[in-house]
Amino acid sequence: MSKTAILEIDGNKYEFPVIVGSENEVAIDIEKLRAATGAITLDPGYKNSGSCKSDITFLDGEQGILRYRGYAIEDLAEKANFLEVSYLVIFGELPTVAQLEKFENDIRKYTLVNEEMKNIIDGFPKTAHPMGVLSSLTSALTAFNPKVVNVENEEEMYTAVCKTMGKFLVLATWTFRKTSGFPLNYYDNTKGYVENFLRLMFELPTGPYTINPVIVDALDKLFILHADHEQNCSTSTVRMVGSSHAGLFASISAGVSALWGPLHGGANQAVLEMLEEIQKDGGDAEKYLAKAKDKNDPFRLMGFGHRVYKNFDPRAKIIKKAADEVLATLGVNDPILNIAKQLEESALQDEYFKSRNLYPNVDFYSGIIYRALGIPTDMFTVLFAIGRLPGWIAQWKEMRVNKEPIGRPRQVYTGYALRSFKPMNER
Ligand code: CMC
Repeated sequence: MSKTAILEIDGNKYEFPVIVGSENEVAIDIEKLRAATGAITLDPGYKNSGSCKSDITFLDGEQGILRYRGYAIEDLAEKANFLEVSYLVIFGELPTVAQLEKFENDIRKYTLVNEEMKNIIDGFPKTAHPMGVLSSLTSALTAFNPKVVNVENEEEMYTAVCKTMGKFLVLATWTFRKTSGFPLNYYDNTKGYVENFLRLMFELPTGPYTINPVIVDALDKLFILHADHEQNCSTSTVRMVGSSHAGLFASISAGVSALWGPLHGGANQAVLEMLEEIQKDGGDAEKYLAKAKDKNDPFRLMGFGHRVYKNFDPRAKIIKKAADEVLATLGVNDPILNIAKQLEESALQDEYFKSRNLYPNVDFYSGIIYRALGIPTDMFTVLFAIGRLPGWIAQWKEMRVNKEPIGRPRQVYTGYALRSFKPMNER
């Protein structure tokens, strides 16, 4: 028998269906709440509100579980590559050899970006933050691809997916070339997606660039770990923008802006900036731990805590191992990393952090790896965006294919009641 929830307002009882997800997540379906009762719910930050049903990602914050399409993140990070996982996230199944080869080849068809995009990049000052530039360039793609995707046509949808995967990677790396003053370069269709990321970033016309397989492997893992995370801030933004039937590029561009903030994807940059600040201030990790605990001090330990993971972040576990491997392989000896280790060890034993379930999150370690790989700090969040792209695409696609209604929350108005207009000379 199906369960129901009873709500009582002013002595009147109302019944609402209770729905249960495939992992036994329970939700009260309040779709008819306002029509039946005249009331709405209030849930700032959406800590208790589901915005959709989704088949893509399952996460259990209490148990530290993350799965894409039913596959454990631990298995995917160890056994698959980024394009394979992108295919899984977007299309729902792990690709066969032929499907993966076709996907990679089809992405290659769209890795050339219209040359006129370079004029747009030229308009930005060299000091512009890469995330701002990336959001603008992604949005600008709409101008060169004005045809709206017919979401009911599978072929058109598939092409839109490949186009976005191809062009976004090139634009993401061009934001770095621009700020570094390097000439903009092109995707090499004879090489893989992650190898191309490295080439596009670092290869110069003056000499060959040798690709280190350890770095490719670490990046593959990092991108996989970031590929989707259900209804987080940027993904909800992508779905919300897309729900007005704005195009895929416009929706992804909005997702990039949402990801930029230091409480979301921008945390990986904030972690490194924090570590640098601690180093400049004498390297005393304990002092900063005390600051983070002081309620009169706005300082927070960046890279610690998570909205949904209240036990541990399963991505952080995998990445910590990868970070240790990369640092050992590359022989990196960096004082910043010693501060990170000190901070991590002390926080994990500290009562304040323990009692609030504040553990290092994925961004704490990803920043450390990126730094070891020689990626500049303000590009960290761009790397997060590259990893998150398949998730944004999949969620946008799901939302459109499921014909979800336009996202339009309500509010509880707390302003003035009706006032009479005062003419200027009476104010
Ligand atoms: N340093 C010190 N105290 C903290 C921290 C922190 N990083 N995070 C949370 N707290 C405290 C907070 O002050 C509060 O204490 P009290 O109960 O005494 O008032 C308690 O822990 C609960 O915090 P909250 O702000 O209610 O938790 P939230 O779920 O709303 O926020 C968060 C989650 C990620 C925004 C927050 O932990 C934070 O600001 N962390 C630092 C930024 C960061 O690393 N963000 C990356 C998130 S992972 C990447 C991603 O998926 O986007």
